[in-house]
Amino acid sequence: MKMDNKLLEDLNEQVNREFYAAYLYFAMATYFTEINMEGFAKLTKNHAKEELDHAKRIYDYIILRDEKVNLLKIDAPDTNWNNPIDAINAALDHEKFVTDNIHRIYKTSKEKGDYPLEVFIQWFVQEQVEEEHLFQSMLDKMSHVQDCSCEIVNIDRELKLESNYVE
Ligand code: FEO
Repeated sequence: MKMDNKLLEDLNEQVNREFYAAYLYFAMATYFTEINMEGFAKLTKNHAKEELDHAKRIYDYIILRDEKVNLLKIDAPDTNWNNPIDAINAALDHEKFVTDNIHRIYKTSKEKGDYPLEVFIQWFVQEQVEEEHLFQSMLDKMSHVQDCSCEIVNIDRELKLESNYVE
């Protein structure tokens, strides 16, 4: 089934948005390493790898549909975070932006009758619920402190010990 041109364009842009997300989380890992927050650095570096996997899933899907992958320029992320809360807020904002885009692709695939894409993109719809939850729950934990206080240091220590955050 031939893909609608606008949907294909949007899907190619989503590949770019996922690569940008990886770039953003690598930038956050750099920031957290600079301020000696190894737990947050591990978390964000691990998350960057997930974003690369998201980009690859869509990249492979475009090829599976016998369509052309169009790799676009990746912008440099804005890294002017004043504190860890600022950075995690930026992560949540970015995930909300990605969710809006995934929802639009899902909605358009339904409207255009592209049922294979509708089914494929459902994995991302669910993934976004988990991604927003990850950063929202982290912000909730951090919300009662304003800067790199001992509370945030404790959260950092917990993250560092989490076995699922691998190098
Ligand atoms: Fe692939 Fe965090 O969105």
